[in-house]
Amino acid sequence: MTASIISGTEIAKQTRSQLAKEVAQLREEGVAPGLVIILVGDNPASLSYIKGKRKASEEIGIDFKLEQFPESLSEEDLLRVIDSYNEDSRFHGILVQLPLPKHIDEIAVIEKISPEKDVDGFHPVNLGRMLTGQKCFLSCTPAGIMEMLRIKGVDPAGKHAVVVGRSNIVGKPVGQLLLKENATVSYCHSRTRDLSSITKQADILVVAAGKANLITGNDIKPGAVVIDVGMNRNEHGKLCGDVAFDEAKEVASLITPVPGGVGPMTITMLAYNTVEAAKKTRS
Ligand code: GUN
Repeated sequence: MTASIISGTEIAKQTRSQLAKEVAQLREEGVAPGLVIILVGDNPASLSYIKGKRKASEEIGIDFKLEQFPESLSEEDLLRVIDSYNEDSRFHGILVQLPLPKHIDEIAVIEKISPEKDVDGFHPVNLGRMLTGQKCFLSCTPAGIMEMLRIKGVDPAGKHAVVVGRSNIVGKPVGQLLLKENATVSYCHSRTRDLSSITKQADILVVAAGKANLITGNDIKPGAVVIDVGMNRNEHGKLCGDVAFDEAKEVASLITPVPGGVGPMTITMLAYNTVEAAKKTRS
């Protein structure tokens, strides 16, 4: 079997064009959705992610602002900046780009963002709302994965979904969203014994471990849906995921490539969350 490729790029394009229409409508109603990204330092990977977020925002018609500070910015000053954007009605979404310098407490920063502007979905209030099935901002990568599955007609109900990786940003929340859609969910991580024996049981396999080629063709059940969240550079500097794509596509039924899979959807869901935040401010 050769898998069909899930093109995140294509799905993102369709979703963005839909969002652009909604933004045009919002603007007619006098609401101009705005997103501010706060960056401390000049981490090249962060700058590259931000470039994609700016491009998507501008394409959709969201007012975008990058607020960049030197690496030496104190935590206290960063918290003050966040507070000023919490109060600023021009910006419906606030995103503090991670990672932050070591002298800044990431948790304190995330908790400072108003949950109503937390378009990353990282605030404990949003995570708690997600766990209890309430309306909330979903973190963007898990939301993008669920949207891709929905558009491709993959219903998780009754299926065994295996998530490899347990980060707060991807692994933990995507497992919860799959559970909400009635999948039977297993979490695997660096301490899991005999990883392959578990991934081979997956009808839906989500890999978010940050390790190139962690999952090979032999680790996949024939016909599985494989979602690769990895973003690694191989020995030639080429972007690659956590799944050995060429082997995996011979075993899976559907698979996301890297690049062009989960990445474009993550950025699109950030725009989606920003538009939702703006909609809530309509009188
Ligand atoms: N750094 C890498 N990915 C992300 C993300 O989705 N949000 C934030 N805030 N920082 C990141």
